Amino acid sequence: MSNWTVDNIASQKGKTFLVTGANSGLGYGTSKVLAQKGAKVIMTARDLQKGHKAMATLKREVPNADVELMQLDLADLHQVRTFANAFKQKYQQLNVLINNAGVMMPVKRDETKQGFEVQFGTNHLGHFVLTYELLELLESTPQSRIVVLSSLVAKMNKAAIYWEDLQFEKSYDKMASYSQSKLANMLFAAELDRRLKKQKSSITCVMAHPGYTATNLQQHMGLQGRIMNFFMAQKVEMGILPTLRAATDPKVKGGEYYGPAKMGNFRGYPVLNEPNTLVKDDNTNQRLWELSEQLTQTDFSIKV
Ligand SMILES: NC(=O)c1ccc[n+]([C@@H]2O[C@H](COP(=O)([O-])OP(=O)(O)OC[C@H]3O[C@@H](n4cnc5c(N)ncnc54)[C@H](OP(=O)(O)O)[C@@H]3O)[C@@H](O)[C@H]2O)c1
Repeated sequence: MSNWTVDNIASQKGKTFLVTGANSGLGYGTSKVLAQKGAKVIMTARDLQKGHKAMATLKREVPNADVELMQLDLADLHQVRTFANAFKQKYQQLNVLINNAGVMMPVKRDETKQGFEVQFGTNHLGHFVLTYELLELLESTPQSRIVVLSSLVAKMNKAAIYWEDLQFEKSYDKMASYSQSKLANMLFAAELDRRLKKQKSSITCVMAHPGYTATNLQQHMGLQGRIMNFFMAQKVEMGILPTLRAATDPKVKGGEYYGPAKMGNFRGYPVLNEPNTLVKDDNTNQRLWELSEQLTQTDFSIKV
């Protein structure tokens, strides 16, 4: 079977994509290819200056790109809600929401505006609320999709939901807290897809991960990060393929997980990967879902 590449992506003209964390790394690369394929892309950045710079570069690289920029800081749930309201006022359709933004392994424990550990708060809770707020718009757009970025670490030895110290207040472990946030992304996506299927929604929710890709994400890893990026990482052009496949391949089904094919899913062209077996554990899924609702004061039950 031949490799899935950007050549497999049909024209995306007429479709609107929202990409979080689009000013850098995978988010930027994903936005660029989607723009090349004719999509309307709403790039978001928490820092507008960085966002404008990225959008200007993209427009230089893809002169006919239909891209716009909006500010979105996922580490402030009030801002997430304000953003979603502004988005719904401005756009009448949303074909694909790509929950891409992420922060990895800050050396010192940090918190979001509402006091959550910064990785769990940004990577999981921020996207949890964003998805919740945009669900009706997605529902009113035929065959829409939600793509959630997880990670290899969601299946590695520190991948767990640390119920006893969810916010890592007692003891901070940067790898464990990052792994928790990316496992939470995965569990949320799988559970959301199950709920959507149950109510016969036409929205599908798909998971993706980029293997190991050299981006700014490794900025807190110091020398180790730079060495790993040099010897092991694949380029952004490869790292974005699982996301792009999850977002555009008509054969993709809800609940599937796309990632690289080779070297233990670290590198290669995108194929179906196996998520953590916890995605099938109802107790864990329900508990995380309900906890996320409580922490963010959302009630998904009125929607899914
Ligand atoms: N690279 C990899 O090997 C790898 C592996 C597995 C999973 N992933 C996942 O891939 C996704 C993209 O990461 P990347 O590798 O492209 O890293 P990146 O180059 O550092 O990009 C991350 C993006 O997320 C944004 N972001 C961080 N905190 C945010 C916040 N509070 N609100 C809104 N946006 C925020 C960043 O904004 P700033 O530029 O302002 O910081 C940036 O635009 C992440 O979810 C990551 O967990 C990456």
